[in-house]
Amino acid sequence: MFVLINTSCFTGFGNVGLHTMRYLHRFGAKCVGIGEVDGSIWNPSGIDPKELEDYKLANGTIVGFPNSTPYEENILEADCDILIPAASEKQLTKANAHKIRAKIIAEGANGPTTPDADRIFLERNIMVIPDLYLNAGGVTVSYFEWLKNLNHVSYGRLTFKYERDSNYHLLMSVQESLERKFGKHGGSIPIVPTSEFQARVAGASEKDIVHSGLAYTMERSARQIMRTANKYNLGLDLRTAAYVNAIEKVFKVYNEAGLTFT
Ligand SMILES: NC(=O)c1ccc[n+]([C@@H]2O[C@H](COP(=O)([O-])OP(=O)(O)OC[C@H]3O[C@@H](n4cnc5c(N)ncnc54)[C@H](O)[C@@H]3O)[C@@H](O)[C@H]2O)c1
Repeated sequence: MFVLINTSCFTGFGNVGLHTMRYLHRFGAKCVGIGEVDGSIWNPSGIDPKELEDYKLANGTIVGFPNSTPYEENILEADCDILIPAASEKQLTKANAHKIRAKIIAEGANGPTTPDADRIFLERNIMVIPDLYLNAGGVTVSYFEWLKNLNHVSYGRLTFKYERDSNYHLLMSVQESLERKFGKHGGSIPIVPTSEFQARVAGASEKDIVHSGLAYTMERSARQIMRTANKYNLGLDLRTAAYVNAIEKVFKVYNEAGLTFT
């Protein structure tokens, strides 16, 4: 979803801000501005997350970061494709909603948009990706952790060896099939895995499993929210779509448990 975004700006370079920036950067997005309590910085060529993290660790602030200039205006109103409020509640209100220039607002923080501002964004066709979906990755992984603790076994422990052995068997059977067909006049036919496959031959680590489970869950939820938005003709109102989606799920579970009347 973020891969095609050109420029982005943030408020709040804390946990959410830093890690959002790291992942967006990895997928080719350019972060042009960041706002903090004591000042904002700007670089239209993009700011490197690692360099900024090191600078903040050494200096306790992002202000004065060498590869940037100070941004004197309100960073929320800066010219960018995607605005990520990642600091605190009620940053986007009816007082500033008309001045926002971003095309997409991605709510990293909880409750950064007031209901009045939300209505203005809808009227202005600005897409708001709501907090209850967008910043739910952390609690999703906490849920995985809870499942792991219930089972008293780490992810992958029961399958690591089986997976690795299966991958070697797969390579061996490709080699044997080729040798049966073409013979091995010049010695055996070497089967060289691609670098991507080589990296996976040993099987998924626990981290790989958690990352892929998280990506799967978030992609699936995004599709469900978009389907709900289409089904009820909600247009860009993804917040209502996300709430409807969540309430429908709760209803389904209660209904199936026989706890509701229809
Ligand atoms: N940490 C998580 O796992 C997590 C997960 C989902 C959502 N959230 C939400 O994201 C938001 C930020 O959480 P965090 O964990 O990154 O907190 P944090 O304290 O690590 O970072 C917040 C940053 O915002 C800055 N800040 C505060 N007020 C500001 C303002 N007015 N303008 C600009 N910068 C300001 C602070 O200086 C700090 O660097 C909160 O709303 C939190 O509820 C956090």
